[in-house]
Amino acid sequence: MYGVPNSEHRHLRRLTTDPINGHRALALYVRYIEVIVIPSLEELAAMNRPIKFFNEMKRIGFKVIAQVFLGSTKDSVLSSMVKYYTELFPGVLFLPFNIPGFAFHRALKARKKLVKMIQDELDERRATTSVEDRKKGMVDLLMEVEGDKGEKLEDEHIIDLLLLILFAGHETTAHTIMWALIYLNHHPEMLRKAKEEQEMIIKRRSSSQKGLTLSEIKQMEYLPKVIDESLRRSNFAFAIFRKERVSFVPGYTIPKGWKVVVWHRALHMDLNIYSNPKEFLPSRWENHRFKGRTFIPFGAGSRTCPGADLAKLEIAISLRYFLLNYKLEELNPKGPITYLPLPRPADDYLARIIKLP
Ligand code: HEM
Repeated sequence: MYGVPNSEHRHLRRLTTDPINGHRALALYVRYIEVIVIPSLEELAAMNRPIKFFNEMKRIGFKVIAQVFLGSTKDSVLSSMVKYYTELFPGVLFLPFNIPGFAFHRALKARKKLVKMIQDELDERRATTSVEDRKKGMVDLLMEVEGDKGEKLEDEHIIDLLLLILFAGHETTAHTIMWALIYLNHHPEMLRKAKEEQEMIIKRRSSSQKGLTLSEIKQMEYLPKVIDESLRRSNFAFAIFRKERVSFVPGYTIPKGWKVVVWHRALHMDLNIYSNPKEFLPSRWENHRFKGRTFIPFGAGSRTCPGADLAKLEIAISLRYFLLNYKLEELNPKGPITYLPLPRPADDYLARIIKLP
């Protein structure tokens, strides 16, 4: 949706909000997140060797978003999607030379294959009379959606959206999961509290229940504060760009037509808003008193992140399974942190995941 003119953007946002972030959608996605996160963490722990934690979380995050998009699907479709996207991604960051041997050329070829694969998927689903609700993914919800005048999303829009969310929806969540675990690891009393909350949720449920429900996730009180504080302290996005009249920070009025860069990190570390801003303090989120435009990890206004609730869901589920079953052994705890473009350990957080007895 980047670069889409405002009127078309508004229309697309109206049609895509429910399939990405609506209650019915999120309830479906819990299962798909679990299906990827649980075995992936198990696999990492079983390797019993140092890993670059950030890179592994990105790999898991990518699979999660692909699974959420497709819903119940053949493993071969999911793995082709991962393969083509892995070939496409490096080309996005390279010079646009469409010449054999260049990354951009390989990326265009991979994009073609990815687009054909998704188009085949759309055609196949359309030919099937009806997909059971519990097997639906975001793609099915996007195909069902209708605007006020009964208009549907075009296939081209669905495919573009998929490419965008594959890009926007995996590194961002991986980054937040990593930082939440780093902070918890460095604050054992918070780690214990977060873990106890998850154990309490298990105690309250009936013995026949399998997997998490959305209502259990809504019962969590402490973990969302840990997530908000991680987003404040080490947010993924470093800036958003806006034109026209904005007044993100109380006391500033920006004339219409001016172009503005809003620097998240400065806002989230502003002493006038957050006391002891350098400290990791989930308790500062009691009563949600900093919400609104003093806390904008997902941006603000009409182009605010449409995946915010989905992202928080994925982060909460990943942290939950991690806290209940594993611990992190940091292998380079005093290693340097880089800050541009993102705050992250320079070694991509070298660690070992240890399964708890
Ligand atoms: C912790 C995780 C995430 C963070 C911190 C984050 C942050 C952001 C930010 C700051 C923006 C720009 C908003 C603005 O300009 O005001 C954005 C846009 C966007 N994000 Fe996210 N995001 C996250 C996860 C996700 C996920 C999981 C998805 C998948 C659905 C997603 C999809 C998008 C899309 C499609 C846009 C473009 C929206 C538009 O142009 O209308 N993001 N995100």
